[in-house]
Amino acid sequence: MSSKKIAVAIDGPAGAGKSSISKVVAKQLGYLYIDTGAMYRSVTWAVLHDDIDPTDQAAVETILPTLELTMEPGNDACKVFVRGQEVTGFIRTPQVNNAVSEVASHKGVRQYLVERQRLLADEGGVILDGRDIGSVVLPDAELKIYLTASVKARAKRRWLEVQGTPNEQSLDEITKNVERRDEMDKNREESPLVCVDDAVVIDSSDMTFDETVNRILQLVQEIINHE
Ligand code: DC
Repeated sequence: MSSKKIAVAIDGPAGAGKSSISKVVAKQLGYLYIDTGAMYRSVTWAVLHDDIDPTDQAAVETILPTLELTMEPGNDACKVFVRGQEVTGFIRTPQVNNAVSEVASHKGVRQYLVERQRLLADEGGVILDGRDIGSVVLPDAELKIYLTASVKARAKRRWLEVQGTPNEQSLDEITKNVERRDEMDKNREESPLVCVDDAVVIDSSDMTFDETVNRILQLVQEIINHE
């Protein structure tokens, strides 16, 4: 791979494999991987921890200045910290899953996190994954990808992931959660999940993990060759 470093924005619905794919692509490229969903999840963890109603926009926004949210981006997983405490292990519970779309719909929360995401991405050589990366966070990213898959394929993948973990849920529950989050993420007023015109759409329903990784690496290489 060339040493020219670009910014890659990967957006798409819940469970499309964005995080696991982005992690591997970033590692192969020697890029920084920034999991923006983990940031929304950390805020949600704090909201639940502080006994705040996730639908109470004013109350949620009031705690933002107290969070001291930091992220240690790495080539592997992103570690997230709230008020000095690492919360990486607490942000993928069913409770956080159920409340995160609500918390992520509040304008103040989005402003607070978008500002941090832009700072982290400042140097280039980054892959950010989320819902609004190509549309809002990095509208000038050299490569934008909309990574999607059918609801059935996404729910099945998540179900396999949580088997034997404390976050185990039935396939039916997971399917409902995926559908509910799609609905909320696409229809919210603030930065809804959209597929921007200049994004390359990858539907991974019938693709293997490696095929998806290789497709993205190929797209990065094509852009680098043209720069
Ligand atoms: O990618 P994820 O499932 O970890 O994201 C968790 C939630 O955060 C998801 O329901 C939508 C929200 N989110 C968002 O609104 N904008 C982003 N850039 C990333 C995530």
